[in-house]
Amino acid sequence: MQTSTRDKIPATLIPGDGIGPEIMEATLAVLDALGAPFAWERCEAGMAAVDSSGDPLPDATLESIRKTGLALKGPLTTPVGGGFRSVNVRLREAFQLYANVRPARTLIPGRYEDIDLVLVRENVAGFYVAHDYYIGVGDDPRAVAVSTGTNTRDGCRRIARFAFEYAVRNGRKKITIVHKANILKALTGIFLEAARDVGKEYAGRVEVDDRIVDACAMQLVLNPWQFDMLLCTNLFGDILSDQIAGLVGGLGMAPGANIGENAAIFEAVHGSAPDIAGKGIANPISLMLAAGLMLEHVGRNDLAERLRAAIGGTLNEDQIKTGDLKGKANTREFTDAVIARLR
Ligand code: NAI
Ligand code: MG
Repeated sequence: MQTSTRDKIPATLIPGDGIGPEIMEATLAVLDALGAPFAWERCEAGMAAVDSSGDPLPDATLESIRKTGLALKGPLTTPVGGGFRSVNVRLREAFQLYANVRPARTLIPGRYEDIDLVLVRENVAGFYVAHDYYIGVGDDPRAVAVSTGTNTRDGCRRIARFAFEYAVRNGRKKITIVHKANILKALTGIFLEAARDVGKEYAGRVEVDDRIVDACAMQLVLNPWQFDMLLCTNLFGDILSDQIAGLVGGLGMAPGANIGENAAIFEAVHGSAPDIAGKGIANPISLMLAAGLMLEHVGRNDLAERLRAAIGGTLNEDQIKTGDLKGKANTREFTDAVIARLR
């Protein structure tokens, strides 16, 4: 069924840095074949924007997202150590995208079978508030490094409520609250407390338990099937979401949604992969699955399901895979194979 221009949903498109433009082109081609209902507004951010306008987050990009409330974003390079502040973090703050949803599902049987986990990460607080600085001593201007994290009770309750509502809506059974309340007693203690509090309102509907983050990391390797949903503070969620991506084949298989009251930005969990950028060999599945989450967000679960089925068929029946999954296909060949299944 073709959607007429009139019914199309305006959405912002940010190709991104490194492998971003390559995997975005692949994803757009697949969305096109699906007949996805988006009318794209193409914008820039990150290094690409620095090169063209001197600003890593131009006003026009912010304005577009303000207007559409919906964006698909390629990875953006952040300089390590010095340089400009992460544009990803700035976007999450600017639109108060307080919830980061990162599902990990087995698409190709491998080291772990039947993984079906959803990680919900608090996305705007904790150690990402950027109270991060040096204090000079004597002639060393960077003798002492200080970082202060902030979690508010309201913010913790907000993300916990999001996670429990998600669980109810999506038929999930259990939420494991991840913390380090034995050491970061205040910063992550308040998170544990608030999440348990909110969890009581869902008693009988969603089971709740909790784990200290280091033990959780080990348990995820030994027996990931004991978990259903993980509810994490910002930093722990960042770390564990890469880990659960590893359970299902790596960063090439991991989508993420950044959700707020007024906007949502969909992206891959991985970064701009400078080591393989420009070679045309990146795995586009993460961004394609992110586009799938975006389709679900606008109520087109039917298209999201078709997309996931086409990707699964390409991997398992056609045996066409990119190099990170030990296949021989390049980005283009993999994408063409997915499109062939959608036709
Ligand atoms: P990365 O995720 O870009 O790469 C880590 C490793 O995974 C690399 O070996 C890379 O080649 C591989 N990889 C990642 N995505 C892949 C794909 N689709 N197909 C095949 N292999 C893939 O992490 P790294 O190198 O730490 O970060 C690079 C840059 O990306 C940094 O500037 C970082 O700040 C930024 N970044 C941006 C994110 C975002 O835009 N949301 C998220 C994470 C990092
Ligand atoms: Mg990360």
